[in-house]
Amino acid sequence: MQHPDRRRFLKTGTLFSASVLASSVMGRTPTGTKPSPETNYPEVDTKKQTRTLGSGKHQIEVAYGMGLGCMGMSWNRSFVPDKKEMIALIRKAYEMGVDFFDTAEAYGPFKNEELVGEAIAPFRKKITLCSKFGFDIQDNKLTGGFNSNPKHIRMVVEQSLSRLKTDVIDLLYQHRVDPNVPMEDVAGTVKDLIQEGKVRNFGLSEAGVEAIRKAHAVQQVTAIQTEFSLMTREPAQEILPVCAELGIGFVPYSPLSRAYLTGYINERTKFMVGNDNRTSLPRYTPEAIIANWSIIDVLTEFGNQRGWTPAQVALAWLMAQKTWVVPIPGTTKLAHLQENLWSADITFTPDELNRLTTTIGEIKIVGARYPAPVKK
Ligand SMILES: NC(=O)c1ccc[n+]([C@@H]2O[C@H](COP(=O)([O-])OP(=O)(O)OC[C@H]3O[C@@H](n4cnc5c(N)ncnc54)[C@H](OP(=O)(O)O)[C@@H]3O)[C@@H](O)[C@H]2O)c1
Repeated sequence: MQHPDRRRFLKTGTLFSASVLASSVMGRTPTGTKPSPETNYPEVDTKKQTRTLGSGKHQIEVAYGMGLGCMGMSWNRSFVPDKKEMIALIRKAYEMGVDFFDTAEAYGPFKNEELVGEAIAPFRKKITLCSKFGFDIQDNKLTGGFNSNPKHIRMVVEQSLSRLKTDVIDLLYQHRVDPNVPMEDVAGTVKDLIQEGKVRNFGLSEAGVEAIRKAHAVQQVTAIQTEFSLMTREPAQEILPVCAELGIGFVPYSPLSRAYLTGYINERTKFMVGNDNRTSLPRYTPEAIIANWSIIDVLTEFGNQRGWTPAQVALAWLMAQKTWVVPIPGTTKLAHLQENLWSADITFTPDELNRLTTTIGEIKIVGARYPAPVKK
């Protein structure tokens, strides 16, 4: 999808100069030559970067092959920046061509949907809006349980639509599999919501193979959203193969392993108690951060040879796994957003990809990703 607004934006200097810089970083502009005048310089073809999630009538095109995770703009990533700044960031992302935005009822709870709804209002119809239901929330607090009862799903969708200031959610995920509600009932409820025009497409988060098959048999699934990164590679074993078989796309969440893979956090980083789940995740203790640091060394050394940051190498590695993998890195900073989007331009030679995968695969990751196993 290439918006008219995006095409207009490309003609202005900002992204143009960014693309010149990106091309030069990728080694396409011969060293020492001056960039040609704008009229002679090739336009950036964002279409070639587009990726497709899902198939048939439930497929979604995603510009850059990458979306924007909005959770950290209001929840769970320590410092919460000024709301106006975050609205401006989401709108800037849209101007840069981003058209896939991820939020959930649970983020805040509710606050993040409110933020995203307000931010996207001016261009709502031109983007893919993704949200989720499925956590139990009482008195504005997550109880730690799940709730995918059909009546509850319907209630949450009505509330989400209102917070998101829209009449349809483009991609609605079940956030976690609910062991107390048969998947057939969950998928059946979403199917009804699709028929009623309140939802366009169905997704699952952290679902196992059996749950995916059951759901897909009732209502075609467009995407599975599950943690996947160079530090969390389990989805490659069973989930990606079942997605390939059924024509389902894959959306890696926490693709930068909650900032670890950027090299920006270290054993002295203080996570804000009460607004950062990294305080309770075993992989973010000072000991684990130190023990896993050789990953950052590998990413830094690898990236240095071609002018890429560790974050860019980590995102490009994910996108090199399958053409239908669409990561949703989260950020509160325009500079990081631009850096992350540039990674969609990166290609590896088969030898580079193999070397990176093998070298990092040999590093034993210290610390589980969650304190208790996720129910699938
Ligand atoms: N389905 C689920 O259960 C689930 C769970 C978690 C998250 N999610 C979704 O996935 C999205 C992303 O996940 P996440 O926030 O957990 O993890 P992430 O995207 O792996 O990492 C985000 C963190 O990395 C930092 N960062 C991003 N780009 C950077 C760069 N280029 N250089 C340095 N630091 C950078 C951000 O800080 P700055 O703000 O400083 O850039 C932020 O603290 C969320 O927004 C949410 O939509 C879904």
